[in-house]
Amino acid sequence: MVRSHFTKQTDYNVMEHTSTHRVYLCGGPRCSARGSVALQQQLDFAVWEQELDTAVEIILSGCQDRCDQGPNMTVWPGPYRYIGLTRPAITRIVAQHLRDGTPVESLLAATPQNPELENKEQRSENA
Ligand code: FES
Repeated sequence: MVRSHFTKQTDYNVMEHTSTHRVYLCGGPRCSARGSVALQQQLDFAVWEQELDTAVEIILSGCQDRCDQGPNMTVWPGPYRYIGLTRPAITRIVAQHLRDGTPVESLLAATPQNPELENKEQRSENA
């Protein structure tokens, strides 16, 4: 049985003591319209499949201010801001980042520190 990992949490600064990562999947209106709610099931399943139930907290967040790039999610420790999510992208992020500890750079948003990023996979699909 797959249990829901989504929790309603009031204290966003405290991770469960067994957790290694916290994931905020955007549940804002634009990301929801672009499929983030459907991705919630994929994220839940991928975390369960990788046996990360106790290591990963998943929280459905409000808007993350990158609406045009959604669906989005942010992983802590970080922040690592993933944009343009798809079901395969979720599976890959869970295995490579949350399980193995290596962020999937090709799916990250650009940052002032690293402007070369910006979900290169999404860009190449749209080219
Ligand atoms: S609704 Fe997701 S970033 Fe705004």
